[in-house]
Amino acid sequence: MSDARDLQTTTTNTMGRGNWATSIGFILAATGSAIGLGNIWKFPYITGDYGGGAFVLVYLVCVLVVGLPLMLAELIIGRRTQQNPVGAFQKLHREGSPWQLVGWLGVASGFVILSYYSVVAGWALAYIFKAIAGFQGTAEAIQSEFGELVTSPGQSIFYHTIFMAICIGIVIGGIKRGIERWSKILMPALFAILLGLACYGLFSTEGGSKALAFLFKPDFSKLGAEGVLSALGHAFFTLSLGMGAMITYGSYMKRGSNLVRDAITISFLDTVVALVAGIAIFSMVFHFGMEPGQSVGLIFKTLPVLFKDIGPWISVPFFVLLTFAAVTSGISLLEVVVSYFVDRRGWSRIAATLVLGAGIYVLGIFSAVSAWSVPFSGKGFFDFFDDFSTNYMLPIGGLFTCLFIAWVMKDKDRADEFGSRGPLYKGLRFLLRYITPVAVLAVIVHQLGIVEKCFWLFIRLFVFFLNYAG
Ligand code: PFF
Repeated sequence: MSDARDLQTTTTNTMGRGNWATSIGFILAATGSAIGLGNIWKFPYITGDYGGGAFVLVYLVCVLVVGLPLMLAELIIGRRTQQNPVGAFQKLHREGSPWQLVGWLGVASGFVILSYYSVVAGWALAYIFKAIAGFQGTAEAIQSEFGELVTSPGQSIFYHTIFMAICIGIVIGGIKRGIERWSKILMPALFAILLGLACYGLFSTEGGSKALAFLFKPDFSKLGAEGVLSALGHAFFTLSLGMGAMITYGSYMKRGSNLVRDAITISFLDTVVALVAGIAIFSMVFHFGMEPGQSVGLIFKTLPVLFKDIGPWISVPFFVLLTFAAVTSGISLLEVVVSYFVDRRGWSRIAATLVLGAGIYVLGIFSAVSAWSVPFSGKGFFDFFDDFSTNYMLPIGGLFTCLFIAWVMKDKDRADEFGSRGPLYKGLRFLLRYITPVAVLAVIVHQLGIVEKCFWLFIRLFVFFLNYAG
């Protein structure tokens, strides 16, 4: 019996899980998972914090060297096994294999990330209504509205509730009629709104050329080692890697489509959206002579001050865009968790989505109440969950996924899904064996602070070399 058929017959049921109806449906859903708050909220503000062009350049290299290979790896594992992340590792190795822990980590990451992601998405939702009502008053008054929203448990929980209800409603609909159908509606709308905003920024403000120079003219003096590591960490988050989201979405693919092309398309679209969002946002920021390095508040505090003059024609679409992006990512986070309970525990999709969605919702309340903090850590729940999941859970999940596909998965399973054994395949295997894990390990080592000084020295030398070469 062939290996492929071996895989089909092991343990868990793969029947009746659902499939993407069309390959464009899959691309839009996977791109929807990747494009989210990370692109429109996080990417512009960290780019601002690390000085612009040099950060963008390093981030692009990270997407190519770490993001793209890992995206392909996850899609290969998913499509090969037609399983949720836990089942996928067992099916490729053996029942009860310790590698299933990587899948478990992914399911747990989905649970934790969605709990606080939904709170930020709730803020985006709240700002649609604020934008419709119009931003009024002094700059201080407009900026303080964000603080009021975040510190008001009633408001934060209210919008968190609405956002979770939307995600639960879509995921209950299943793969074709829920996730695929809504991605096909929301993603084109998102592209259209974003294009409109970028055209406005480039052609109707005087900040367009400054924004382009800021984003694309590298100045390595402002980057530093910290910036390099942030770029790498962000590549993970923005491409939805390290927690099995792409394994899960890949598992609903039918055989036959070209995974390399799909992985390139998803990573490319995700990157373009982040850059175009950056152009739109920084054009407005420079037009009004504001500073680009505004950190977390760039979107919720700085932009509304500008929107007061620009008007609701731009501000309402902007927050609608942000909310759409968050919805298509939120459903992928929920789907990872749900798929495990449907595949392995035999729960019905409706029961799994309702029960797990409710659990995530309750956990999210801890992040929504900004006054509550994690005992003995001195950190609020929101910051704690964000730091822990983005800085540890995703990179660790990504590292082991990479080691698994590169060193443990059978060459035949890997090459069959890749579609060839040519130089491209050998290049990917080399990256996944030697380059990607080292880069990911660097992020983890940095987060843990181990041998940090040595590592920083290395990065400084590297940045010095780049400066020198440029
Ligand atoms: N990629 C999403 C964003 O950029 O906002 C966040 C995310 C979604 C991370 C799904 C991980 C994930 F599995």
